[in-house]
This record gives sequence, structure tokens and C-alpha cells, in this order.
Amino acid sequence: MTSTAANTDTATRTAPGPRGTPGFGSLVPYRRDPAQFLLRLQRDHGELSRMRMGPYTVHLATSPDAVRRVLMENQGNYVRGKLYDQFKLVMGTGLLTSDGRYWRGHRRAVQPAFAKKAIEAIIPNVIEATSEMLERWEAAERAGEPVDLVAEMMRLTLVTLSQSLFGYDIRSRTPLLKQVVDESIEVMFPHGYLSEMLPQWMPTARNRLIKKNRRIYDQVVSDIRERHSATGEGVLVRLAEEARDPETGEPWTDQEIRDELLTIYLAGHETTATAACWMLHSVAAHRWVREELEGELSGVLDGRAPAEEDLPTLDYTRMVIEESLRLYPPIWLYPRDAVEDDTLDGYHIPGGSSLLLSPLVSHRNPAVWENPEAFDPLRFTPSAVKERPKTAYFPFGGGPRMCVGNMMALLELKIILAMVTQRFRLEPVPGDLTRFGDSLISLRPMSEMWVRLRPREGGSAHG
Ligand code: HEM
Repeated sequence: MTSTAANTDTATRTAPGPRGTPGFGSLVPYRRDPAQFLLRLQRDHGELSRMRMGPYTVHLATSPDAVRRVLMENQGNYVRGKLYDQFKLVMGTGLLTSDGRYWRGHRRAVQPAFAKKAIEAIIPNVIEATSEMLERWEAAERAGEPVDLVAEMMRLTLVTLSQSLFGYDIRSRTPLLKQVVDESIEVMFPHGYLSEMLPQWMPTARNRLIKKNRRIYDQVVSDIRERHSATGEGVLVRLAEEARDPETGEPWTDQEIRDELLTIYLAGHETTATAACWMLHSVAAHRWVREELEGELSGVLDGRAPAEEDLPTLDYTRMVIEESLRLYPPIWLYPRDAVEDDTLDGYHIPGGSSLLLSPLVSHRNPAVWENPEAFDPLRFTPSAVKERPKTAYFPFGGGPRMCVGNMMALLELKIILAMVTQRFRLEPVPGDLTRFGDSLISLRPMSEMWVRLRPREGGSAHG
């Protein structure tokens, strides 16, 4: 691992990297398989590499030192930048896509919805939604039918999030919204097609799709607000309705409220669903992990659903989740733009250039992780964690821009894992497609992930 140079005098050394093709740089191999391409960059050029992506200079930074500098020590120098701008087409301007004063005001306003007490209050919602899913799974198991984890987890996290933060029952709309979210994800990540460069007023198929989906989102947000004004339910809606600009004292505009609710809705459910898929799949694929997990859950819960006081005692369950987020971090890549020149790992980062951080690539960095491709929850015992630099592991980002929903996600994942494991043994369906890399945003296990359900003797874990 190389160390980061001092702040002001930036280094002049240019980082190593692929030559690429004139005019395109590394766009073609990147587009073919982004995750594998970036893993190859780390393997071939080290922890800091430089490439051209069309007209842009882009660095990939994977060492814990560089990640700490970008997310914490010099975070003011690294703004969301041009790659995040694509997100605005769907989400508008919310926490994910803004910087500076606007971001600070919004973060402060929504933070109470994610405080410890508020998060604990959602436990009954997660248990209820998971119990309902397990009842459906019982019918599938009796009929000998496999289930698709992607569809199941998307529905589960959407229902939980809507109930917990928006006070809204979204069950009847989940199939439509899954399709709209899938389409939005395609839009948010540039593929380099000509249609992406055309102005928004042009009636291209892409622009029509963006408009159609925007109308659907607008309708959902407006229904959520209407329901809130009738019932007073939905902590996040209340915070957004009551929010005031800290300097002017003005309430948020309708657009601000819409964009923030939509941002949290989109950032919150697809990520947690993806994490849950990989977590359940990893347990299904590693018998010794499953047995250890079953042992801990029988000892602590003995078949019942977890209560608030059980959650901190489920140590092995936590380690399984953390290891699965190491190998399969749902937000596997995120960009920044450097405002001014900087130095990372002794190399020059020019102001105005773009930078990629990738939990996926850093979490498989052989300079930090022994046998990085192996699934091993014991990497997350407290003593093993202490031996690693903190920024070797960052599935939720870090510094002031750390994921606002990380505690909520971890709580959901723990309850889902405990309840599913106590009731069923999952078996991956042979030949199913679980490789990653096609998706440019969240590390989705392709579009489906099928598993067979085997009952566990005496298992119950209903709410
Ligand atoms: C396993 C699940 C999740 C993962 C892996 C995840 C990951 C991340 C990461 C890596 C970031 C930082 C992005 C960056 O700095 O560019 C982030 C930010 C964010 N996440 Fe999550 N997230 C998850 C769940 C959630 C949930 C449940 C919510 C809300 C209900 C949420 C809301 C947000 C928001 C609003 C931001 C922007 C925060 C800011 O910039 O102030 N996320 N998330």
C-alpha cells in the first residue's frame, strides 16, 4: 500500500494505466464488462490507475489511503460531478445528486428519520413483511416451485420502506414500480449511446421513456403526500413537509419535496434488495456458513422472530452480512470530480478530472484481503476488523456523505436473514445466472436469481 502525499504541493507523477484506443480511450472494454474491467485495472496497474473515457481523464483509486483522502480528509475537493448528473434525469436534485449548502440543509432535515430510535421503530414492519413473504414461500415449497430472489427481495424492501418512511401501503403497485425502477437504472447510467447525448426536448424513445416514468413517480409521490395529509403517517414525509431552508426560513418547494422523497425511495429499496439477494445466495452456496448461522439462530431465537434486544447478540449473522457486502457491495462504483489538483498515493490528480471509487474493487484488493475471492465471515470478527485500515471496507461510502440509510439497511438484512434461515434452506437452482458486471449501477444478480426452498424441521420464525 502506498501512502498519500501532503495536501498542498501536488505530485507531478502520472498514474499508470491502459493506453486505450484513440478518441475512445478505455470506453469499449469498460462498457463490455465494467466490473471485470476495473478489477483488471487494479491487477495490472495497481491501486491507483488512470484511463481516458472518451474526452475525460478518469482515475480509479482503490487503496485505503486514497479512499480515506477522497471521502474524508479532502472530501471538499471531490464533488459529485458530471457522472452523477445523469441521476438528475430521474431523481432530480436530492441528497444523492447535490453538494454544498443545498445538500447540508437537506441532510440535516431528513436525518431524524434515520436516528437509532426511529430505525428501531421499523422492526415490526420488517417482521410483518417478511412473515407475509414466508407464507407465500410455504405455498411455493409445497408445490415444489423455485422462487426468484430478485423479485421477492425487491417487493419486500419496497413494502418495508414505504410503510416505514412514507406511511404508505405500496403492495398493489410493486410490479409496475419494479419495471419503472429497472428502466430508470438503465437511464441513470450512461452507456455512451448517441441517444444519451441528444437534448431532452427531442422526442426520442429514450426521452419519451424518461417522461413516462417521471409521470408515474410524480403520481406516487403525490399519492404519498395526500395520504400523509389525511393520516399524519410517514416520518420522512412529515420531515420534508416541515423542512425550512436554514438561511431564508422558506419551506421546501413541491419540487424539492418530490425530488428528496424520490431520491430516498430509489436509493433505499433497490440497494437493500440487491444486498439481500447476494446475502441469501451466499448462505445457500456455503454449507458450513449456513450450519454455523443455523446454530447461532437456534441458540438465540429458538425459532421465533428476532426482537430488538436480540439483534446486537447475533454476531455471526452480522459477520455473514458484512462479508456478503464485501464481495457484493450493491453500490459497487461511484464517481467524483476533483475541483482542484490533488495527490493520491503519490500520483497527480488534475483539477477537473473524474475519479472512481469502487467498493467492489477495493474489497477484492489482494494488498489488503487475503484470498479475496473466498467467502469467509470470520474476516469480520472484532479483532480481524481492528487489524485493517478502516477505509479498506466501505460498502456504505464514508465521511459526511456516508449512506444515510446504512443502519436501516443492516437492520432489515439481519431480520430477513434470521427469519428466512430459520424457516428454509435455500438451494441455488443449477445453471442460474448470478455473475455480475452487466449492470452499470447496482451490482444486481442479473435480472433473476432462482432458488429452491427446502423446509427446516421445526422451523417457524413467523412474526
Ligand atoms: C445495503 C443497502 C445500501 C447500500 C449498499 C447503500 C450504499 C450507499 C453508498 C455507497 C452511498 C454513498 C454514495 C456516494 O458517496 O457517492 C449511499 C448514499 C446514500 N444512501 Fe445508501 N445504501 C443502502 C441503503 C440505503 C437506504 C435503506 C437508504 C434510505 C432509506 C439509503 C439512502 C441513501 C442516501 C439518501 C444517500 C445519499 C447520502 C448523502 O449524500 O448525503 N441507502 N448509499
